[in-house]
Amino acid sequence: MSAQHALNLKPVNTTKKITSFHPPLRALMGPGPSEINPRVLAQMSLPAIGYLDPIFVEMMEELKTLLRYAYQTENALTFPVSGPGSVGMEACFVNAVSPGDKVIIGRNGVFGGRMIENVQRAGGVAVVVEDTWGEPVDPNKIEDAFKKNPDAKILGFVHAETSTGCQSDAKTLCAIATKYGALNIVDAVTSLAGTPVLVDEWGIDAIYSGSQKCLSCTPGLSPVSFSERFVAHVKARKETVHSWFMDLNLVLNYWGNTNRTYHHTAPTNGLFALHESLLLLQEEGLEGAWARHQRHHLALKAGLEAMGLTYLVKEGNRLPQMNSVYVPAGLPEGGEAQVRKTLLNDFNLEIGAGLGPLAGKIWRFGLMGYSCKAENVMLCLSALGSVMADMGLAVKVGGAEAAAHHAYAELHKQAALEMTAAKQQLAA
Ligand SMILES: Cc1ncc(COP(=O)(O)O)c(C=O)c1O
Repeated sequence: MSAQHALNLKPVNTTKKITSFHPPLRALMGPGPSEINPRVLAQMSLPAIGYLDPIFVEMMEELKTLLRYAYQTENALTFPVSGPGSVGMEACFVNAVSPGDKVIIGRNGVFGGRMIENVQRAGGVAVVVEDTWGEPVDPNKIEDAFKKNPDAKILGFVHAETSTGCQSDAKTLCAIATKYGALNIVDAVTSLAGTPVLVDEWGIDAIYSGSQKCLSCTPGLSPVSFSERFVAHVKARKETVHSWFMDLNLVLNYWGNTNRTYHHTAPTNGLFALHESLLLLQEEGLEGAWARHQRHHLALKAGLEAMGLTYLVKEGNRLPQMNSVYVPAGLPEGGEAQVRKTLLNDFNLEIGAGLGPLAGKIWRFGLMGYSCKAENVMLCLSALGSVMADMGLAVKVGGAEAAAHHAYAELHKQAALEMTAAKQQLAA
């Protein structure tokens, strides 16, 4: 008689035999996660060590140093929160907002809406400044909100709205908050390492990001950074922070400079991975990473436009790493979802759908981190062109690839000219 029988244990309840899970190899061009760099993946399979092992603690210090580079800050309190971007968001709000505090939130997409919920759940009063989805948070409206609400203590907004592909002017918005004596909280989940995020120069007080977008790391970590002003505000709170896990005063016992005592079991292998992805970022250089995102965006844009697709966001406000275009007219009913399904099933290519009021109206093409490369741009244009043509749209198959090729060729020509000019200047 087996032990299982003797104890009358319930068997695994399934009609389908469960075997090891082997995900397919997909090109990830949705709103995140992005593809994980193989060097980062390799780090995840290294043997685990204890989260208080002196060697791990040394690595934590390096992580903080590398994160300060990524964020361009000297903030002492810069570390990865154990949890996805949503936990980073919640950590900022739950520490900053005391019951009754007035918080101005600029909402121009899904994630500004989440900020409002965070304010309310922390017992604060959200003053919501609305902007059309696809447009940036309007600094004039934010300034008006401060004039009408001089007692507002905090401003929150999303730097890079993933739901639309629009970038807001973080520097100007933070300066307005500072002018009115308020702290600011900035969502940089999609912007960090894709477009400039200059924490010290822009006067950002609290910022959070996600490991799974332009950092090309495993999902589930949220790099955060807090100014001294923000830390002083949290320390001066009269009310205890309403979350044990995210209370900065307690987290500091593990991630702070002097103490290193148990707070929670750190996700060790995920942190090995983040260390490697930040190292990759340092090797490429922030400017190199920003330029790569811009270069492939320009090629993708040339191809999408050659297929007759138009961008949701105006030029100048567009995020290179998140390209939103209107779904073309002329698709049969259910065609929008069918296109995405065919791309996934026949081409192993994931793209994103629209959310909220933009559901069914836009497609979102991510070019984030390790996913931001020429082979993905070309695969996407080729696959999308053939699927749309199959569905009866007037698309010239091959036209988009030619347009992207032309954009790349122009960029290469320009880079070569700049290189020659720089060499001539050096020789002179
Ligand atoms: C702008 C923005 N903020 C917050 C989040 C939440 O991050 P996560 O899904 O890692 O919890 C996302 C996720 O896509 C995002 O794009």
